[in-house]
Amino acid sequence: MAKPLPPDSMGNLMVNQWPDWLPLRADLKSEKPYGAPQLDVPIRLNTNENPFGPSKALVKDLEGAISEIGARLNRYPDRDALELRRELARYINQLSDTRFAEGNIWAANGSNEVIQSVFLAFGGAGRSALGFEPSYSMHRNIARVTGTNWISVARGENFAIDLTSAKSVIAQERPSLVFLTTPNNPTGTITPLAEIRQLARSCAEVGALLIVDEAYQEFSDEPSAVTLIPELPHLLVCRTMSKAFAFAGARIGYLVADTRAIDAMLLVRLPYHLSSATQALALVALSYSQELLANVALLSSERTRMRKSLERIGVAAISSGANFFLFESANPAALWSELLESGVLVRDVGLPAHLRVTVGTPEENDRFIAALASAQEKSSTR
Ligand SMILES: Cc1ncc(COP(=O)(O)O)c(C=O)c1O
Repeated sequence: MAKPLPPDSMGNLMVNQWPDWLPLRADLKSEKPYGAPQLDVPIRLNTNENPFGPSKALVKDLEGAISEIGARLNRYPDRDALELRRELARYINQLSDTRFAEGNIWAANGSNEVIQSVFLAFGGAGRSALGFEPSYSMHRNIARVTGTNWISVARGENFAIDLTSAKSVIAQERPSLVFLTTPNNPTGTITPLAEIRQLARSCAEVGALLIVDEAYQEFSDEPSAVTLIPELPHLLVCRTMSKAFAFAGARIGYLVADTRAIDAMLLVRLPYHLSSATQALALVALSYSQELLANVALLSSERTRMRKSLERIGVAAISSGANFFLFESANPAALWSELLESGVLVRDVGLPAHLRVTVGTPEENDRFIAALASAQEKSSTR
């Protein structure tokens, strides 16, 4: 049976019970900290992590890098993370046949920090950011924390973006920032490059930046929006090593953009924000990109296998370009609990009639499919 992990330091129990002596901002008092339930369950398919830990060779090289920098930890890290940014540019250039250099890349502690820096530089009081929802909730959360007005535009049929209405809302609302996640979390939906180009043009007309969040891009067959940056300098692409590189614990995200947009990141970053350890570990992981991308291919083929298996047991699954997908359920809350009873944790993302599952190892996926099949069978005999 699933055991809850001990309460974390975010003091969840205190939410809404703030003492009078604490001068917390009024607009934060009713908020809850972000976080998926962390339960101690055998099969955890709820946070879109990559299930494959680093290989033995990679662990050895990571250890080597740590012991090398260990002797130099009295010194601050390279403040501008130049070597890491150069290697990230090289990685992107290899994938997308582009010509970026370190000046086109910003690196930070996870793409969440990148997104926060984008808000600090281009959002804030009196400005608006717009997003197509359902999508990654941190865009909205960081808007709130930075005092940026959030405009939510509902996605259309099959969670795709309705371009006509998107363009007219952008023209009417004139936001400073427009967020587009592709493949989208939690729906897995891919927005084709031709549509991104059209959205970018609408943004240019009102002086907005288009931020394309490509956290799951390596799992998709669609070309990356980085290929549009040379023609559309107000398009910024945010990516992460958390998913494809299976490096979520190391916290490395990055932005690919025109050099002037990257220069603006320097105005809002904290000095020495990216530790020597983080930079060194990321460089080692980048040198293993071929090995790590082989696992991405395996996960993408597992996604197809899982969706086919679900089809066979009569569960509709939504097409996805990421390492997760949505599946349908008449009663998602009940099914979530039933799967948990079988030791499988998926995510109830709050979408009516849907749950989200992350693609795990083939064995984990088999356990999920078996648990779902047995829940289906029980509900049909009820
Ligand atoms: C769409 C999207 N963007 C950004 C992130 C943040 O990733 P990280 O901060 O680990 O780089 C996530 C994490 O799940 C995500 O789903």
